[in-house]
Amino acid sequence: MIQESEYKRRRKTLASSLKNNSIAVVFSATAQTRSNDTEYPYRQNSNFYYLTGFKEDNAALIIRKGRKATESYLFVQKKDKQLELWSGKRRGVKGAKKLFEHDDIFVIDEFTSKFDLFIKESRNIYYDFSMKSSKIEYIVEKSKSFSSRSNLMPLIGKQRLIKSPEEISLIKKALQITKEAHHYAKDHARELTYEYELQADVEYIFKKKGAYSDAYTTIVASGNSANTLHYINNDKKLLDGALILMDAGCEYEYYASDITRSFPVNGTFTDAQKDLYSIVLEVEKKIISMVRPDILRTTLQEKSEELLCEGLVKLGILKGSVKKLLKKKKHKKYYPHGIGHWMGIDVHDESPYKDEKGKEIPLMAGMVMTIEPGIYIDKDDKSVPKRYRGIGIRIEDDILVTYDGYENLSKNIAKEVEDIEATYS
Ligand code: GLY
Ligand code: MN
Ligand code: MN
Repeated sequence: MIQESEYKRRRKTLASSLKNNSIAVVFSATAQTRSNDTEYPYRQNSNFYYLTGFKEDNAALIIRKGRKATESYLFVQKKDKQLELWSGKRRGVKGAKKLFEHDDIFVIDEFTSKFDLFIKESRNIYYDFSMKSSKIEYIVEKSKSFSSRSNLMPLIGKQRLIKSPEEISLIKKALQITKEAHHYAKDHARELTYEYELQADVEYIFKKKGAYSDAYTTIVASGNSANTLHYINNDKKLLDGALILMDAGCEYEYYASDITRSFPVNGTFTDAQKDLYSIVLEVEKKIISMVRPDILRTTLQEKSEELLCEGLVKLGILKGSVKKLLKKKKHKKYYPHGIGHWMGIDVHDESPYKDEKGKEIPLMAGMVMTIEPGIYIDKDDKSVPKRYRGIGIRIEDDILVTYDGYENLSKNIAKEVEDIEATYS
């Protein structure tokens, strides 16, 4: 549980990076229609949540920075018995004041009048450039004469790069649940017929253990499906002898987990699967061991490409000198994606990889990054020995950068060959 004092601290830190005489506005997410009159489950805007901890729709935050003081104002939906009957309880101003500490809290209907008042002494405005709404149009129009209009999101993104101990606890809790879900699903795979049944098993454990949602759409890709990187149809049969690539992670109290494991439907690797799997596993472990403050993500990327290329040559999938193959990027056909990404409130955390000058940001203690190398061989790739065709493997863990190295937050999720072949539940 993140305390109000931490949200206050985040707002204060954000205010310290704003120019004097500024106003910053952040809006809640808008409910999304699924079809006709049905909606997707509501998920708060990550930046708004990061700064407020407030989960309701139709809300806004204003941070005002004068020459001396900074102020924070929250806007919430007003209580409405009739609407609450249909859509659930709202905190209202009174309820919000009990839980959230701002200079004042107003109903959202007062947003424009308060905004007009607050901007009187402001010269600069910050808001999310990617958001479109009538309220955004309003604040843009009203701030036309301002000296500067800036995108607020890179500033919040930079702040979100370094996780507090409380954030790390929530990620660990998400991973504890994800671990149980992966083990449960893996152990039941041989009893199932379709990929989506495995998805149901994973998501059953997410919910049963207290994670309301997945952090992204679960991928259950068996056999050649694993060679489609963003495969989410999950509708093929689980065939005896095939390998399953399962990329699944729950979201717990707004914090993500992102885990991929590759395991055989029938519980035992074939020799060809084991050959490929062992290469990916060794590379993954090697790259994880390199994680420490000051190293660049690009260094990890390049090393993973080099090691995977070596492995592909060893198995006769690529032929020639590793150096030349790397130069010609021949390995990219089999390892086309990045080594990993920031993770936090979002599975792909919306934080920068480069600083304002375009220079790559090195790893720092408190960052959380995934490490996820893979090898993907299409079933129709005639240039590859037959035994390896139709196999796709990725292994993904979530790594915390510490002061003297790293902590693998998902180290308890089985990935050694003998552990994958063992049963847990
Ligand atoms: N699950 C999305 C990713 O691995 O990046
Ligand atoms: Mn990932
Ligand atoms: Mn993933």
